[in-house]
Amino acid sequence: MRSLANVNLIINQLFSFSFSLVFSCGAKAAEMALMKLNSLSFQSQLHPSFGLPPTANPRSPKIVMASTLRSSTSPKEAEKLKKPFTPPREVHVQVTHSMPPQKIELFKSLEGWAEENILIHLKPVEKCWQPQDFLPDPASDGFYEQVKELRERAKEIPDEYFVVLVGDMITEEALPTYQTMLNTLDGVRDETGASPTSWAVWTRAWTAEENRHGDLLNKYLYLCGRVDMRQIEKTIQYLIGSGMDPRTENNPYLGFIYTSFQERATFISHGNTARHAKGHGDLKLAQICGTIAADEKRHETAYTKVTEKLFEIDPDGTIMSFADMMRKKISMPAHLMYDGKDDNLFENFSSVAQRLGVYTAKDYADILEFLVGRWNLEKLTGLSGEGRKAQDYVCGLAPRIRRLEERAAARAKQASTVPFSWIFDRKVDL
Ligand SMILES: [Fe+2]
Ligand SMILES: [Fe+2]
Repeated sequence: MRSLANVNLIINQLFSFSFSLVFSCGAKAAEMALMKLNSLSFQSQLHPSFGLPPTANPRSPKIVMASTLRSSTSPKEAEKLKKPFTPPREVHVQVTHSMPPQKIELFKSLEGWAEENILIHLKPVEKCWQPQDFLPDPASDGFYEQVKELRERAKEIPDEYFVVLVGDMITEEALPTYQTMLNTLDGVRDETGASPTSWAVWTRAWTAEENRHGDLLNKYLYLCGRVDMRQIEKTIQYLIGSGMDPRTENNPYLGFIYTSFQERATFISHGNTARHAKGHGDLKLAQICGTIAADEKRHETAYTKVTEKLFEIDPDGTIMSFADMMRKKISMPAHLMYDGKDDNLFENFSSVAQRLGVYTAKDYADILEFLVGRWNLEKLTGLSGEGRKAQDYVCGLAPRIRRLEERAAARAKQASTVPFSWIFDRKVDL
């Protein structure tokens, strides 16, 4: 499945890796790292969402460094990677605080605006659904009967669907990582853990709303009896321990673009698992996934509104941030997932999601196109020369991604089957 696009990608990464090392580490360190390079393998980017070859980033040679380095040579090193408390298995050179400090004031000045325009997208707790609304009630006499019915319905659903639903659940369950990520952002982070600023109120309430997603899916999957809960729980523990590497650089411009993209991606993904559940005759599971999707949509509305405001106040800075995120590619929040067994777990999960049409390369391009339209970027004015270049890049990117992915997909037709520990090592087609 290693397509020409992937080969190009590898060459690109190889080049930019050695190039950026010379810039960022000095000659000696570069030499040492280049020696080490011989023992590094570059993982092919199986998931179409990550299939676009990187372009050199003008902002910092550090940022273009290899995106998916993974050591595969020494058994000792491989063993080390599998230990639970090692650093993330896949990281980029960490760029921090890339927003000029004076722009922090801009976010402080937007607090009143955020209170009136963003906090309104939160739902009062008393009006929110809770996981219990969709699950058998353990305090009721009918509990066992309801569980039995749930399990009967789940019997009709194929393994491949459960692989995708489990991957989605694990992604939701790594919520501590996403709250951490939001609190890395300069100017909007929750400074105390109970800060009264609008940004902090939003982040905590957003997290509290999201927390119901993993809870609900986790409890459903536990009750359905179709999956290996212990393996799933291990995967969650590994994932939270690994964190994520979204390359948002403490920069709220990058952070809000990332969250705009991701909330829409999860809206699409949960919407599709709902559609499939309905197709398999499980209307209750369809309702579960559809309800979560509706939350994601509301969150997408809030985050795209923040970014829209940034385009209004600082079109140049925001369009360049958008282009920067797209050049780096939007990595999925659970891209570091591992179950203690499968070194390609995320890629394998993503391939199944792609094949079932739950989240695909086309969705990635569609989200980008949607955001370009949502923020009216083709008509954006008041840009510098660089800003106009960034505008051209993002406005022309979706068709380019589609073309590249179509070609890659045509080449990568050979089917393969892999076991997933989440379903007791039963095999599923990729
Ligand atoms: Fe969610
Ligand atoms: Fe979300």
